[in-house]
Amino acid sequence: MMMAGGATALGPTVAGSGRRSAGSAEPGAQPPAGPPGPAAGPDSGPVAGPAEIRPLEPAERAALMRVFETALVSIPSLPFFAEDQTGAAYFHEGRQFGAFVDGQLVGSTDSLASWLAVPGGRRLPHAAVTRVGVLPTHTRRGLLTALMRAQLTDARTRGDVVATLRASEAVIYERFGYGVATRAVTGEVLRSRARLRPTVAGAHGPVRLLDPSADSTWELLARVYESAAHQPGAIGRSERWWNIRRLRAAVEAGNEHYIAVHGAPGAEDGFVRYQPEAPQGWRHREDRAVDVHDFVVGSQQARAGLLRYLLGVDLVTRLNFELPFDDPLPFMLTDQRAMKITATEDETWLRLLDVPAALAARTYRDGVGAVTIEVVDELLADNSGCYEVSGSGAARLPDAPATGADLQTDVATLGAAYLGGTRWWQLAAAGRVQARDQAALTRADELFRVDPLPYAGTPF
Ligand SMILES: CC(C)(COP(=O)(O)OP(=O)(O)OC[C@H]1O[C@@H](n2cnc3c(N)ncnc32)[C@H](O)[C@@H]1OP(=O)(O)O)[C@@H](O)C(=O)NCCC(=O)NCCS
Repeated sequence: MMMAGGATALGPTVAGSGRRSAGSAEPGAQPPAGPPGPAAGPDSGPVAGPAEIRPLEPAERAALMRVFETALVSIPSLPFFAEDQTGAAYFHEGRQFGAFVDGQLVGSTDSLASWLAVPGGRRLPHAAVTRVGVLPTHTRRGLLTALMRAQLTDARTRGDVVATLRASEAVIYERFGYGVATRAVTGEVLRSRARLRPTVAGAHGPVRLLDPSADSTWELLARVYESAAHQPGAIGRSERWWNIRRLRAAVEAGNEHYIAVHGAPGAEDGFVRYQPEAPQGWRHREDRAVDVHDFVVGSQQARAGLLRYLLGVDLVTRLNFELPFDDPLPFMLTDQRAMKITATEDETWLRLLDVPAALAARTYRDGVGAVTIEVVDELLADNSGCYEVSGSGAARLPDAPATGADLQTDVATLGAAYLGGTRWWQLAAAGRVQARDQAALTRADELFRVDPLPYAGTPF
């Protein structure tokens, strides 16, 4: 099965909201000027009382959303609690944590139960971390640190092998063991110049429009996604995830939200969701752009068929995409400059919660020998140790080799390299891994290499 980066997604993906952050920053927005760290929070002196970190009750979820939305400043609030005060359709049981000071909820973190596809095809239990925020009145006092510690320990206890998130700023999560494991590009396709190459196979399969207000539509999308999303880095979209997506589409786009599916009824293998960018006055503008929110393809035919469909939508002058770093779209066009890359971004921040299980779950390239990796994990200490990785798998060694391990690093760096999306040689150039020699690095990169590059394409 040919996998186009599975899903590509534009629009809200902040750990909780929109694009690019477990907070929501416009693509390309710069982190606040000045040194990272303490300067950011107002210095209102010591917090009155000690902080209490604990799981939240379902009835406290609305308060969590207020803390999160206040911390994120600009994020559209969704009516999660319109039908029931606990918002059960949009939260997974027992995964919300809060930081309380003087009995007031001032910090939050949450996760959606999910899976992560790893090289070789296995899907690992995964915590999709979201809704992370601390009120500006209480930042830089260690509340996030305490929330992360509680959440990571809890996720591991409930059997999650990995956790991932989308970061609002790139300077927050490495300290908690997260590393950048996948990257994405955003790009725009100029319809006036974009023609599919005549050599592109399978571009004439059946495409039909579905009613975004129909339950059956979203049930079909969930089925197609589940069967299409096998590329390393793909993550599970739970029922909660789909509920949030559907509500967001209804609130933000109203009826200007379109869904096209590829494949004969009963044999659908891909879909695209899109809406006009800035709908106000859209038809009267010269530049009429469309945001492609989801481009899920389970076959070459679906990729070519849906692309042909999008390039054929009249009135549209520009298509905005978010795509895997190595997506073939530009090569499928007669003029590959009809697609302009507008930004490259860190996508998946990956935290290995159970290092032995995670290393053993993925496959590695054969015939390139073995490498030993000494890993240090300050937060989840029992992950620390020495592991041997070869084409026949990975396992923890009772002791590090007498001559020392080939590579020495920390769990955040291992998280970055784990899916094969960030190379060991790149991490070594950054001084994040000590290697016995160049040969050890080359062996590690050959063992972990995957093609195509890993990619999630699912905002959360
Ligand atoms: C990011 C945020 C949750 C941090 O909460 P916090 O309680 O201030 O974090 P902590 O006090 O535990 O900070 C831990 C460390 O991270 C650093 N840090 C935390 N947030 C940082 C940021 N945004 N920029 C730079 N450094 C940051 C702190 O300086 C501290 O560093 P130190 O260990 O070297 O002293 C909070 O600032 C916030 O809500 N920001 C806006 C919303 C947001 O971006 N949420 C995250 C969405 S992905």
